[in-house]
Amino acid sequence: MSLIENLNKSNLPTHVAVIMDGNGRWAKKRGKMRLWGHRNGVEAVRSTIEAAAELQIGYLTLYAFSSENWDRPQEEVMGLMDLLVEAIEKETPKLLKNNIRLQAIGDTERFSEKVKNKLNNCIAETSQCTGLTVVLALSYSGQWDILQAVNSIARLSKQGEIEEVDREVFEQHLSTAGMPSPELMIRTSGEYRLSNFLLWQLAYAELYFTDVNWPDFNKEEFYKALNYYQSRERRFGKTSEQI
Ligand code: IPE
Ligand code: IPE
Ligand code: MG
Repeated sequence: MSLIENLNKSNLPTHVAVIMDGNGRWAKKRGKMRLWGHRNGVEAVRSTIEAAAELQIGYLTLYAFSSENWDRPQEEVMGLMDLLVEAIEKETPKLLKNNIRLQAIGDTERFSEKVKNKLNNCIAETSQCTGLTVVLALSYSGQWDILQAVNSIARLSKQGEIEEVDREVFEQHLSTAGMPSPELMIRTSGEYRLSNFLLWQLAYAELYFTDVNWPDFNKEEFYKALNYYQSRERRFGKTSEQI
């Protein structure tokens, strides 16, 4: 049976989060500049979005640029920004055609006006789409997210609008408010760490790591991750017998 046929369509995650890693090493292995790796990563983004939409997955969060990535060489940061603008421009009509909504999480205020405008236009244009939601994590870090939630709660608390914070209230202040927590997190390139991705939201996610570098990731690789997910028994602290 093929990987997709093997999938139980009634047990798919509602939200998949991806750390798209390994573009630089992919390019280096081929004797090219890092930016060439990033360029080739765009095709993998396209395939993954398509696969998730076809399977009617609700949310796909893609870690595209971390808070820490600002510290890379200026040339690479600029190249990534240009690539982002270019990809949004090119992909917006396809998103609309396929009923895909774009959202962003992260400290996007740090971006230039040009990047912010492109991003916000695409978010506004696709806001009525009801199919897959693609969430771009941009200038994002899990610690940033938790801190901005704490600060927002502190402000409301000072105004007397919040008395006590429970999990539900806290989650309403995270950048992912209203989204289900990811049940599956995929990281490419053979690194086994979270690199400050959705720290709160991944509390109970299944973690899937593959040695494939991001530009080589495709639908088949995505199906492999989903098959892995379906092979796990999700116990949430209970015993096997209780499941
Ligand atoms: C992931 O690939 C893309 C971004 C972080 C923007 P990398 O650029 O981290 O590639 P490696 O990990 O250096 O190979
Ligand atoms: C994480 O990858 C960030 C993104 C994929 C956007 P990095 O390549 O920046 O993370 P580290 O440096 O390996 O932890
Ligand atoms: Mg990396």
